[in-house]
Amino acid sequence: MNRDAAKARVDARIDGERLWQSLMAMAEIGATPGGGSGRIALTDSDRQARDLFVKWAKEAGLAVRVDRIGNIFARRAGTDAKAPPVLAGSHLDTQPLGGRFDGVYGVLAALEVLRALDDHGVETRSPLDAVVWTDEEGCRFAAGMVASGVFAGKVALADALRLADPDGVTIGVALEKIGYAGPAPVGGVPVAAYFEAHIEQGPVLEAEGKTIGVVLGAQARRYFRVSVAGEEGHAGTLPMDRRKDALVGAARMVVALNALAFTFAPRPVITVGDLRVRPNSRNTIPGGCVFVIDSRHPEDAMLDRIEAAMRRACGEIAAAAGLGIAIEDLSRSDATRFDDRCITTVRRAAERLGLAHRDIHSGAGHDACNLALAAPTGMIFVPCEKGISHNETENAKPEDLAAGADVLLQAMAEWAR
Ligand code: GLV
Ligand code: MN
Ligand code: MN
Repeated sequence: MNRDAAKARVDARIDGERLWQSLMAMAEIGATPGGGSGRIALTDSDRQARDLFVKWAKEAGLAVRVDRIGNIFARRAGTDAKAPPVLAGSHLDTQPLGGRFDGVYGVLAALEVLRALDDHGVETRSPLDAVVWTDEEGCRFAAGMVASGVFAGKVALADALRLADPDGVTIGVALEKIGYAGPAPVGGVPVAAYFEAHIEQGPVLEAEGKTIGVVLGAQARRYFRVSVAGEEGHAGTLPMDRRKDALVGAARMVVALNALAFTFAPRPVITVGDLRVRPNSRNTIPGGCVFVIDSRHPEDAMLDRIEAAMRRACGEIAAAAGLGIAIEDLSRSDATRFDDRCITTVRRAAERLGLAHRDIHSGAGHDACNLALAAPTGMIFVPCEKGISHNETENAKPEDLAAGADVLLQAMAEWAR
């Protein structure tokens, strides 16, 4: 690449207004009454969001490819077609009552970078892909980060396609239904680097007045499905001391799990936010209750100990109440340390752009944690209002989102040289 192109690459800036307009247009898909977005993975609203992304990508002259697990890659060609691509992206699916920025920002920031490079006539040696990863959130199929896991070789494609939602619909069937079971093989190709821009989803950057979080890594996360088996019975006739109430057992477990979190230092976070009762009828004693535990800690070894304690606590409660119990591993993501070179790239880009920054660890899981298993990976955080996320009121400032996308542009351009 000649000197002029190299200079243009550094000088090129994203269009913050276009990025904001794209975010707001995307937020209309699955808009919730409280001002957020509800696009659960592989539902019709997820399809609409994907369709809009693909439309924009094609309008920008990008070549779109969809793989077997529904990941979408929108490619801007480089000068060397054989060079491994630099990838950037995130997810378009949201929580049921999600915000307008979690995930979608990383996807549209990547798209905006490719648009801006075109506007400024910047060529890169490596191709650049803006990527949509399927089902990051995991609120429907209860695993999360599944498709990036397949891409990185951590999860077998067949296992991912078989994952089912509570109605028994598998990822494979849901992908076919929305038309995103693509023809391309999943992963197995060299990647020069992966970068993901995301709102922080925590309060640190805003509180310290920093625009950019240079993400060093992410904490470990494990999901378990707990099935408690009791016995259905008539709510009016069966005396209290003769019941095997699965919901009462599960409720005791939820309280015990919450208390257990306070007994470890440093403290983990343990959450039960998904609980289903069978048959869920007001005048039948619950015969079954299934809930999902979300447990996280910065250290894998501590999470081993916490897992053992959680299993013991639930087992003891079930035994004392004469209830059956089964605890199934759903998914795990070990503690992640991002690539030192990518971390330096992000920090240097923030400095070059004159943006206040600090190093930070991610409490949330991200597709980047999986990509880190397969390629040099880095993340860029920007502040969000009061650190609120997984909430319809999630909010971020247009200027911070633009700054993060500018850092992303610098990072991608540097690795695509
Ligand atoms: C992703 O949304 C997570 O739960 O960390
Ligand atoms: Mn996210
Ligand atoms: Mn999320």
